[in-house]
Order: sequence, then structure tokens, then C-alpha cells
Amino acid sequence: MAQSPAPITWNSRLTFILAATGSAVGLGNIWKFPYITGENGGGAFVLVYLACILLIGIPVMIAEIMAGRAGRTDPAHSMAALARESKATPAWGLIGGLGMLAGLMIMMFYSVVAGWALDYVWQSITGGYGDSAESIEAHFNTLLSSDSQQLLWHTLFAAITAAVVAAGVTRGIGRAVDILMPTLLLFMVMLVVYAFVKGDFAAGMHFMFDADFSKLSGEAILVAMGHAFFTLSLGMGAIMAYGAYFPGHASIGKTVLAIAAMDTVIALMAGAAMFPLVFANDLTPGQGPGLMFVTLPIAFSQIEGGAFFGSIFFILVSIAALSSSISLIEPGVAWMEKRGLKRPIATLMLAGVAWVGGYFSIHYGAVFNALDYITANIMLPLGGLFIALFVGWVMPAQRTLYESGMAGGPAYRSWRFVLRYIAPIGILVVFINSFL
Ligand code: PHE
Ligand code: NA
Repeated sequence: MAQSPAPITWNSRLTFILAATGSAVGLGNIWKFPYITGENGGGAFVLVYLACILLIGIPVMIAEIMAGRAGRTDPAHSMAALARESKATPAWGLIGGLGMLAGLMIMMFYSVVAGWALDYVWQSITGGYGDSAESIEAHFNTLLSSDSQQLLWHTLFAAITAAVVAAGVTRGIGRAVDILMPTLLLFMVMLVVYAFVKGDFAAGMHFMFDADFSKLSGEAILVAMGHAFFTLSLGMGAIMAYGAYFPGHASIGKTVLAIAAMDTVIALMAGAAMFPLVFANDLTPGQGPGLMFVTLPIAFSQIEGGAFFGSIFFILVSIAALSSSISLIEPGVAWMEKRGLKRPIATLMLAGVAWVGGYFSIHYGAVFNALDYITANIMLPLGGLFIALFVGWVMPAQRTLYESGMAGGPAYRSWRFVLRYIAPIGILVVFINSFL
């Protein structure tokens, strides 16, 4: 019986979109974006972040998928092989190695925050955080001061991540993300509506979108750029590793635009849900990593059926975190597998190291902060810089043209120009500007 190849290609492009969206959308959108926006003064920071998504994130994501598809294996081996093919040094593979390390280091605090979300599933059901802004703030501080509580949830989350990765990520997660994204979107709409009705929506919008560039430090610009990498899962090989499964001639450009749009919309909605509650309840926008955990429970404690909606919401956040965390250790696992280790053993080793790191970030706030800061603001942009240089300058133009599926028109040419010049120079300027 003759079989049409078309549905197979469609299915696997869809699978890729789901996996990559699962990686991108996570705590970065719902937890981190609002709190760093709060810490960095709002409007101008948000605009710089959006500019970085457009001018650096999107072109680099296209480059990562391209390198992954061309190499068809884990990032380190893919880059080394492509370099050899282009008569360049296989030392380019070290970028893949830097990425594996970054992924592991991110997991060391990511899993802790995902653990907080798990705790809030439980607290929503039992009403554990109370129903006033004060009691909700107090609950979060209690959680932060209980190392054993955090360790329990962190351990649970790391174990679930390891179980999924050990089983092989390409199977199974597509389906989960398929249901997750629309449901998450629905909840975000609900929370924004609540913020609109019950919060100080005007103040929230002013904070998020009135740009006062005079207050923007070089440091804030670095954080905005770093977050563009973090939120799109770029600069460490997660998207490159998934790119290895990207079907032959599907268009990369449109796929990337869809993923970036979804990611950005969810982040902006998270901000629009939280800041109106911040201003209506006399909370501080710059209070730090607790922002999401002290604002959204206000909504859940006040709406009809809030225990139910709150617990579902935090389950959704935990699943979104899970579909991201598996992509944090997948490049390392794929690499070890290629070197002959069994997948479950490789997973156990990497998840074990990440678990120990998480143990230390629970006990020492400074470790937590350093891991967050160094990975997002230094390692990911550095990895992204080298990936841009690699795909833009080392891989032959013919090869990228073929891989892009973009047929050499203005879209391809502008992508290549931005990747070769704008993105690398932009990253360097932001680095220099903040370190001087
Ligand atoms: N993009 C994820 C988020 O926003 C975090 C992540 C970063 C995942 C890097 C993989 C790689 O939550
Ligand atoms: Na994200």
C-alpha cells in the first residue's frame, strides 16, 4: 500500500513545535519575567527585553534548530561534526559542552522553584496560605525558611524530571504540552480578567509599559537580554537538541515565530495578572522571586472556587516547569548516550548532580542567586554568541540556505544579516556596557 509522506512530516513538525514550546514556556514566563520586571523598574526593561527577543532570540533560535537538524545528534557532537565538515576546528563542540553545564546549573535552582509551585498545589487545596495579602506573604516566607519542606518538593520535582528523561523525552511529552498550552492560556486570561476587575489595572499597565529609559542601567539591559535567552531556552543547546528531530524540509522560520509569540504572550499576561494586584494590595513590585507566590494566591483566595482553580493553576505551572526541565538535562543525557552510556544511567547521574546543586541553593540563598545570575546573564548569551558566529560565519551559506527551507528570499537574507552582525554585536555591546 502506498503511503503519503505528508502526514508524517506534519506530525513531526507538530511534535517539534510542542516539544520546543514545552521547553520555552515555563517558570521563565510565569515566575521569572514578572519578578525581574518588578526589580528592574518596569516599562523600559520590558521594551529592551522585547527588542532582544526580536533581534537576538528569534535569529538565534533559527540558528540552533538549523545546526541541530544539520547535525542530527546532541549539540556537542553536532557542532563538532558540522565544524569538521566546514574545515573548522572541532573545538566548536565545546560550545555544546558549555551548554550542558549551563543546563545542569539552571536545573539546580529551577527545580527548587518548581518545588515551590508543587507546595502551592497543596496549599491551594488546603487553604494553607490564608486569604489576606499579609497571610499570603507570611506563608511564602515560612516556606522559604523551611529547608526541609523545600527539599522535599525539590526532590519530588527532580525525580519526576529524571523519570521522564530516562524514559526518552521525544515520546510522551508532545501530548502533555498539547493539552497544557491552551489550558494555561485560559487560566492566564482568567487571571488577567481578575486583575482587571479587582486590581489596580491602570497602575499595573503604567508600570509595565511606560518606558523611562533614563532609569535603565547597563545591568538591567544585561538582565533583559539574558532573560530573552532564558525564556526561549537558547544558548545551551536545548532547542538544538530538539532540532535534531526537526523534519527534513519544514520551514524553520514560521515555526520559530509561533514559538516565540506564544512564549512572549504568556510572559506578558503573567505580568498583567500580577502587577495590578501588587499595586492594589500595597505590595512591592521589586520584592524579588516571591512575586508570583504572593500575588496570584490573593486572586485564588478571593474568587469563588479558588481552592480548585488555584490548585489546578499550580499544577499547570508545575507541568510547564517539567516540560522545560527535561530539556535542561536532555542535551547532556543525549551526549552521554552517544558516548555509550545507557540513558537511565546518564539521567540518574545528571539529575543526581542537579539535585545536589538544588540542595545547596535551598540552604544558601547566595548559591541560588549566583546560579540564576551566571547562567541567564553570562553563560546563555555567551553560548548564543558562539552559536550565532558558528551558524552565521562557519557553516557555509549554501548549507544554511538549504537547511532554512526559506528559499533564499528576503526573509532568509534578513535572518542571515541579523544573525551575522546584529545579534553578535548586540550581545557584545550589552556585555561591555554592563561590565564597564
Ligand atoms: N525557557 C524555560 C523557561 O522559560 C527555561 C529554560 C532555559 C529551559 C534554558 C531550557 C533551557 O522557563
Ligand atoms: Na519561557
